[in-house]
Amino acid sequence: MLDVLHIKGGQPIQGVLPISGAKNAALPILAATLLINAPVSLKNLPHLQDVTTMISLLNLLGVRTLIDESMQLEFDARDVQCVEAPYDLVHTMRASFLVLGPLISRFRRARVALPGGCEIGTRPIDLHIKGLEQLGAHIEIKNGYVHATAPDGLKGTHIILDQPTVTGTENLMMAAVLAEGATTLSGGAKEPEVVDLANFLNACGAKITGAGTDEIQIQGVSTLQQPCHYDIMGDRIEAGTYLIAAAITSGALRLEGIEPNGLSKVLECLVQTGAVIETGADWIALDMKGQRPKAVSIETATFPGFPTDLQAQWLALNCVAEGEAVISETVFENRLMHVPALQSMGAQLSVSNQSVSSIGVDALSASEVYATDLRASASLILAGLVAQGETRIKNIYHVDRGYEYIESKFSSIGCRIWRTVEGPISPVRTSIEEV
Ligand code: UD1
Repeated sequence: MLDVLHIKGGQPIQGVLPISGAKNAALPILAATLLINAPVSLKNLPHLQDVTTMISLLNLLGVRTLIDESMQLEFDARDVQCVEAPYDLVHTMRASFLVLGPLISRFRRARVALPGGCEIGTRPIDLHIKGLEQLGAHIEIKNGYVHATAPDGLKGTHIILDQPTVTGTENLMMAAVLAEGATTLSGGAKEPEVVDLANFLNACGAKITGAGTDEIQIQGVSTLQQPCHYDIMGDRIEAGTYLIAAAITSGALRLEGIEPNGLSKVLECLVQTGAVIETGADWIALDMKGQRPKAVSIETATFPGFPTDLQAQWLALNCVAEGEAVISETVFENRLMHVPALQSMGAQLSVSNQSVSSIGVDALSASEVYATDLRASASLILAGLVAQGETRIKNIYHVDRGYEYIESKFSSIGCRIWRTVEGPISPVRTSIEEV
């Protein structure tokens, strides 16, 4: 069946919202449970399709999952025997490729399907492979699978990443924790989710320093067997999406369970739109004082720059903001697919290469639109919040991959949004998209 999201625009957002656990921290931390020779329990795991997919993969590999006495999920990888991540699961979710590092590190062999390209770009994995080879893995790619072996175990080394790939850094960090000797990862990603993964691994007995900087040092240990309870960080992309939603509707919103430093650049840009922002250790409040936002140009970049995962939502804001602006996408080569849908709602946009110029209009008009990927779906919801009439968004399964309880969360802050199921069948999902 095909879910459709309906939004009636025109209500300014008002209220308080709890932020869920971060998808992009939960996925690598779940993969990392494969490394741990003891039960570990995870708090603040978001209830998302991608998380369910990763747990299914872990179960297939032999990780036992149970709900503990405080309703947290416990993972036990002591009896894992299988080292093969099949095509079906890796192809529906690119982040499944994160099991490669842990498997080769702990079991000295792995067979993981290639993730392939996706809607937002080709998304190669060459840097993951090159780094693992430097750690001593023998890698062969055949029949759509990465076959990795390291009969004598991995050996610490100095890896210089040509690009600060997020999941690449995570895969290599996980591989290096059980390698013999010390590994230095230079030029890796500095995203807060990488730091959360390092903190989790350290809580289980790993020796990682420098996560969040240009140079990560990993002193290999022979085993990770410290049972731990770990609380996953709040989702800065979910938080950013709701803050932009509040700004676009000239509303006021307080978010709880989110550390503001991971969003510094976005908060800086929100202030330029006219928002009054206040922050505390684990909360962010935004108030537009009823004013229409001003358009602000941005360029996406790796952390601490403006996150590519909030680019589509920012474009929705610029569509109705006062003035002209330009958004440049520098991280992925094909990430402006939400533009035609926004244009069909009356946005004045023009695309040139990977940049999109906007002239803010007074109002958008509701339309029936198709979501093309996860963050693009979020941008259409935001556009719907300020469109005249009822917007209907199809292919909404994309949004369930990354936003927990999206209708109830938006409803709780004053938005008119609901879901219906329309038949007869879901469209064939021809390719994956992962972000
Ligand atoms: C992660 C995030 C995703 C986010 C992206 C960029 C997860 C699960 N997903 O994706 O939400 O949009 O970071 O912040 O955390 N590249 C190579 N070779 C490689 C690997 C990457 O050339 O081996 C390139 C990619 O094509 C892209 C750039 O590096 O242009 C960044 O990609 P990367 O950081 O790897 O994205 P992901 O880790 O897949």
